[in-house]
Amino acid sequence: MNKEKYHKREGFSSSIGVIAAVLGSAVGLGNIWKFPYVTGANGGAAFILVYLLCLALVGIPVMLSEHLIGRHTKANAVGAFKALQPRRPWFLVGGAGVLSAFLIMAFYTTVAGWVYAYIFKAAGGALLTANPEDTSLVFNTLVSGVGEPLFWQIFVLLVTGTIIMAGVTKGIERVTKVLMPLLFVLLIIMDIRSLTLPGAGEGLAFLFKPDFSKITVGVILAALGLAFFKLSVGMGAMITYGSYISKNENLPKMAIRVALADTLVSLMAGIAIFPAVFAFGFKPDAGPSLLFITIPTVFNAMPFGRVFMALFFVLTAIAATGAMLSLLEVPVAYLTEQYQWTRRKATLVTILGIGSLGSTATLSNSILAKVTVFGRTFFDFFDFTTSNVLLPIGGIFIALFVGWQWGYANVKQEMSNDGQLKNDQLVRIYMFLVKFIVPIAIVLVLLAGLDLIKPIISFINQ
Ligand code: TRP
Repeated sequence: MNKEKYHKREGFSSSIGVIAAVLGSAVGLGNIWKFPYVTGANGGAAFILVYLLCLALVGIPVMLSEHLIGRHTKANAVGAFKALQPRRPWFLVGGAGVLSAFLIMAFYTTVAGWVYAYIFKAAGGALLTANPEDTSLVFNTLVSGVGEPLFWQIFVLLVTGTIIMAGVTKGIERVTKVLMPLLFVLLIIMDIRSLTLPGAGEGLAFLFKPDFSKITVGVILAALGLAFFKLSVGMGAMITYGSYISKNENLPKMAIRVALADTLVSLMAGIAIFPAVFAFGFKPDAGPSLLFITIPTVFNAMPFGRVFMALFFVLTAIAATGAMLSLLEVPVAYLTEQYQWTRRKATLVTILGIGSLGSTATLSNSILAKVTVFGRTFFDFFDFTTSNVLLPIGGIFIALFVGWQWGYANVKQEMSNDGQLKNDQLVRIYMFLVKFIVPIAIVLVLLAGLDLIKPIISFINQ
């Protein structure tokens, strides 16, 4: 590796910038769109408890693993594995990550496009109606169109592409630093409104009173998948971001903080949404349309609803954009570093690829509605396979790599910032988790959740 290129490599310039970017990656549609609807579809509070367990035992350790190898190697998802193990095929884990970035972006940009479109619908008053059924109609008309959702998807790709081209410090860091705090403030306002709706109690009970009879292996798989998706782990986005983190940051502390802050945002989004769902007679298990149909009704019930509604979708768009930056950065860093492409060329080629693939997701509510892959529409296929298959499998390999290949001595050195931090005990707990708990837990959940374990269970039960 030549030294000059090493020096020119960009990085995050401050601790606040690091947190903003990493949290900016974690916080996104996952919190405001996915968390509420997956929680709704899987029975509420009991699901959330399983999710928290997945975060603590699997999500946080994998995030930390990615940061450790990223920061140590200062390389992209593929380059990091190549740098640490040049003679073994571990780099394929990074390669699968680059592929996952395309698959996630394919459906993520569809939803982000809807959110962008909603900013204008909200501001223009199209969503201001006392009748919840009208908001369903607005949503259904948008997603079952062709030109309109495609236009917004392309728009989203151009916006994120432009920021990525501006670079790590001037693009990613600068944008996320301003937008994260704003998102918090707006969520607080939303929560206050939602909690003061008549009948809010039912929504809160759904969110916080667990009914353990609702837990099935499918629910556990969904919780695990959500934990990966939420923390942006399992595909090298955090390796890539880790490569921009300075040697003084306390990595384990940061991973824990990011996971906590991210969970707070998810719960706040849940509090904004579920009381309204019950108050207005919607079903909590509506699926991906939940956010787009209930949130407008919450705003309708408040003074200056139109302003707040537009602002809410602006902030959701921003959260989505911060997350997409980390997804785009994975292929871009890979192409610029492994093939010496310019940032511009890498970005353009990447968004072109995502746009082509992603159009099939966007059109799966209209002209491609009947086309299925393994029994799912393109949109559902990308969503399900990435969260519930590719990210967990990526997580297994990342954990195994750090735990068994890279090993204790290297981990200890990187995690303690070359001995500056006295976190020996933490290193040990972490090593135990990545060597044993993470891989075993994921394998079990995958086998069970994907129905591969049925023959074994029926054998045991005999
Ligand atoms: N975490 C983001 C969200 O919740 C999505 C995301 C960004 C992501 N980067 C990722 C998911 C990398 C998986 C992998 O919206």
